[in-house]
Amino acid sequence: MTSQPAPFVIAIDGPSGSGKSSVSRTVAANLGAGYLDTGAMYRALTWWCRHSQVDLSDQQAITAATLALPLEIGDDPLAPTVRVDGTDVAAAIRSSEISGLVSSVATVPAVRTELQRRQRELIDDIASRRGACVAEGRDITTVVAPDAPVRILLTASEEARLRRRSLEVHGASDDAAIEATRDQVLRRDRDDSTVSQFTVAADGVVVVDTSDLDFDGSVAAVMSVVDSRRR
Ligand code: DC
Repeated sequence: MTSQPAPFVIAIDGPSGSGKSSVSRTVAANLGAGYLDTGAMYRALTWWCRHSQVDLSDQQAITAATLALPLEIGDDPLAPTVRVDGTDVAAAIRSSEISGLVSSVATVPAVRTELQRRQRELIDDIASRRGACVAEGRDITTVVAPDAPVRILLTASEEARLRRRSLEVHGASDDAAIEATRDQVLRRDRDDSTVSQFTVAADGVVVVDTSDLDFDGSVAAVMSVVDSRRR
């Protein structure tokens, strides 16, 4: 009997604008691996709370909504899907309304416990079905999958992150567009960093700084860390 190789998990954390999502998806596609965007889960929960008129200042109500969240998340890195109660919310969860509200949901401790539990289950399932899983977020290297064979913190300077997000959201990176993005990026990272550590690498986590790298360079840098761990 031939033994199957152990499922391989690649954990990638980083702040907004580090290039985490697009780089993680491309790395997963290159490896033929499945993909999990844990930020999409917090976003989907925020959408669900709004949709079901949950008061976002009521932590107990948010926790109850989390436990009941009817979430289906796809693992194809080239076509990630997110459905809540049968509704396709992939586009809606990227709206600036949801981006502005998501930290108030993601910083509730009981919400994190439940979504982290679901994330571990999803990562195990995806990795065993597809041989490997690239999971990205803010606490994957430290809390959700601290034993993953590859753990990477993708960082970039504040200037590079603001420029990228501004291009993504406003289609421009002039001073006005960067100012309009500043609150969303920096406030959210500040709020999120009260509950997870994603600005400093934990022990054993490899830092990949993408400030001076273009997209292909960022993918190549992550692939070289993956290759060195696979050997
Ligand atoms: O990466 P993103 O912008 O889609 O993440 C959305 C929000 O979810 C962001 O405010 C941080 C939070 N998040 C988190 O707290 N833990 C994760 N593992 C992933 C995202």
